[in-house]
Amino acid sequence: MPERILIDTDPGIDDAMAILLALASPEVQVEGLTVVFGNSGDVNLLARNALAILELVGRGDIPVAVGSSHPLVRAYHGRGSIVHGDNGLGNVELPPPTTLPVAQNAAHFIIDTCLANPGEITLVTLGPLTNIALALRIRPDLPRFVRRLVMMGGAISAPGNVSPVAEANVHNDPEAARLVFNAGWEITMAGLDVTMQVHMDDEYLGGLRDIGNQTGRLVWEITRFYVAAYHSFGYANMVVHDSCALMAIIRPEFFTSKFVYVDVETSGELTRGQTIGDWRRQYRHEPQTHVLTGVDDIAFKQLYYERIATLP
Ligand code: BDR
Ligand code: CA
Repeated sequence: MPERILIDTDPGIDDAMAILLALASPEVQVEGLTVVFGNSGDVNLLARNALAILELVGRGDIPVAVGSSHPLVRAYHGRGSIVHGDNGLGNVELPPPTTLPVAQNAAHFIIDTCLANPGEITLVTLGPLTNIALALRIRPDLPRFVRRLVMMGGAISAPGNVSPVAEANVHNDPEAARLVFNAGWEITMAGLDVTMQVHMDDEYLGGLRDIGNQTGRLVWEITRFYVAAYHSFGYANMVVHDSCALMAIIRPEFFTSKFVYVDVETSGELTRGQTIGDWRRQYRHEPQTHVLTGVDDIAFKQLYYERIATLP
């Protein structure tokens, strides 16, 4: 039986790559996409990206719900366009979507889907945790109905990517992330500890382009901007963040992990948005998070290629 998943996302070049992986994988069944600000402050633009990606591979039947356009407490100061381009997809224009988002707001969509399917739904988060936090504020008992939460976000032992200690998704809304980490569910965390270990070079991406399908070509095209951004940061290749969260569900055996209590710094002058792993149980909390620490990136990329090849 496939694991039924709701993907909360801010698409986003690597979000698009992760959504495509999910749609190509029989191990998961995508029940819907909920959209949050993050890689852009324009959540409606990001929702159109979500719809356009789904339609491109013939999955316009999957519902998309629009969520929060800003963090819970402070203003949005993200600079996603530096990595993802002004339109979130590396300035590659997809055919405009013909479908519309559902009328329901993302938080309510999450609540209703989970309550209607107790114990069945896994929440996969690829952006700031604002939509999930809003759902928790309305229904603090939401974790009772959810199978588990798998996130791309945070950095425990690895350096941050927006500050020396903070990763973008958590840094974009630390208060929301703190609520989510302390809500009482089981979490799998694909943070920078593991995502920075999966590199795709142009030879590999060229292989996706040359599969001969439009999805492989799209991944090549949208990654041109992303690769250039990583070059400008001093990296030889792009790294693969959001697909790690999906791959951790599809092939958990590709990863190593440690089970630990994780919390989020919300007020530090230099450390706001830092995720802290309590390795030595000094906070005396029960562990709640499987922090992914290692990955077989060769096997990861092989399977990613095989799955993209199955799409139109
Ligand atoms: C995360 O930030 C976003 O830019 C990416 O889509 C990914 O979810 C990486 O820090
Ligand atoms: Ca993302």
